[in-house]
Amino acid sequence: MKIAFFGDIVGKTGRKKLETSLQQYVSDEKIDFVVANAENATAGAGLSATHAADLLKMSVDCITLGDHAYDNKELIPFLGHTERVVRPINYSDDCPGQGLQIFSVHNKKILVVQVLGRVFMKKKFLDPFPFLENIFFEYKLGLNIDCIIVDVHAEATSEKMAIGHFCDGKASLVIGTHTHVPTGDARILDKGTAYQSDAGMSGDYNSIIGMDKAEPMRRFLTNQISGRFTPAEGEATLCGVSVELNDNGKANKIKVIRIGGVLGCLE
Ligand SMILES: [Fe+2]
Ligand SMILES: [Fe+2]
Repeated sequence: MKIAFFGDIVGKTGRKKLETSLQQYVSDEKIDFVVANAENATAGAGLSATHAADLLKMSVDCITLGDHAYDNKELIPFLGHTERVVRPINYSDDCPGQGLQIFSVHNKKILVVQVLGRVFMKKKFLDPFPFLENIFFEYKLGLNIDCIIVDVHAEATSEKMAIGHFCDGKASLVIGTHTHVPTGDARILDKGTAYQSDAGMSGDYNSIIGMDKAEPMRRFLTNQISGRFTPAEGEATLCGVSVELNDNGKANKIKVIRIGGVLGCLE
């Protein structure tokens, strides 16, 4: 089985790139299951129900969110009508949506979960480790589940790496999101879990983490806020990873994906 994960889709250009490139990629690479993080897909903050539905009509099988999960209030009722969107599991239980979903693909069961990190994050979320421990107590790779994908939505690479090693041998893929810049450490950990500290964003890299440079630059230089961040509008690079799994759900191979835009030109 072959899975693909795409990092934070940022704004219109990120959505457009998925629309124009994803189907071809999935067909060329024979990908069985696609996850995309979409916490910044609508105007750079949050995800509208319309855009969620649009992404799910493309080749995206599952959407993950993040600390911006509820920035767009329109998504909240939509979360009650879909089993294809995953919000962070370490929010409190009464938050809308589900932190874990199980998909059935070619008679295989794929579990997708998202955890939020706590280091350098603006809010204090619940400890992600006990949530992962409970999942691995219930779901054993190669026994009652065929693939486990863990989206680690966090700021600090140290925390992401700790979660990666914590999940080693128990998850198929641990992939970082949230920092919007792809890290160069894609690999397979000792016990067979594919790992990368950050998938990178699917957005315009001629920007400051996907946003038009003017406002973030102004804030860095003058400490003054004069408007909201708006997504940069140049051609997006689709960034992520693909992973080939063996029959017991562990990784045989992890491959970095870069399609189009500034980063895509480097290859
Ligand atoms: Fe985030
Ligand atoms: Fe993000």
